[in-house]
Amino acid sequence: MKGEVIVACDFETQEQTLAFLDQFQEEKPYVKLGMEVFYGNGPELVRSVKERGHKIFLDLKLHDIPNTVYKAMKQLARMDVDMVNVHAAGTIAMMQAARKALDEEKSRTILLAVTQLTSTAQDAMQKELWIDHSMIDTVCHYAENAKLAGCDGVVCSPLESAAVRQCCGDDFITVTPGIRFAEDGKGDQKRVTTPAKARELGSHYIVVGRSITTAKDPVEAYRRACREFEGV
Ligand code: C5P
Repeated sequence: MKGEVIVACDFETQEQTLAFLDQFQEEKPYVKLGMEVFYGNGPELVRSVKERGHKIFLDLKLHDIPNTVYKAMKQLARMDVDMVNVHAAGTIAMMQAARKALDEEKSRTILLAVTQLTSTAQDAMQKELWIDHSMIDTVCHYAENAKLAGCDGVVCSPLESAAVRQCCGDDFITVTPGIRFAEDGKGDQKRVTTPAKARELGSHYIVVGRSITTAKDPVEAYRRACREFEGV
């Protein structure tokens, strides 16, 4: 599978999102739209970005009772995006409900499960969430649950991609945020690495937000992320 760089368009408005994408004249980056923009602009923004020919990862991280996730996923299936996600912490039954909704709509959208957010450090996970295992074991366990439930892959840190490949196989997709260029600060992220290292560690897709969106030249930053991730 050819890896791809996904740009996290974490803007607040449709105008800002489209103005950002307007800067890309030669390439059509894979775009991640999250809740900060979706709650205010929703399906209309998804349609506009699709019309411009971008692939879309709709990152809404559903986490609720199975029946609610099932109905919500039915709505998302009709938007015909390329990737959607749920929280693996919602249980296997919840992930199965998401899978069922997509299957019933004959959707080819990739279904991912978030294992542990890349802003969560092992210490906080153990002390606050009372998860009494290492980060890597927890991520692998959640990934195995996701696979069992019929998800196509997981969102995890690149630092866990190799372990997920080992426990779930090479075809099980790993999408990894927590990407920074070598000279960038971490911001609120904890488990981070560079695009080149993410490739080495086996990530199928990387999600890059602020290192591209706040760069002086976002197009050049995107090209650099692609070069580093593709190893050219
Ligand atoms: O700006 P930055 O590169 O840190 O953006 C990362 C993006 O990936 C954000 O939109 C964040 O919501 C998302 N994300 C994450 N960790 C996860 C899942 C999604 O950082 N486990």
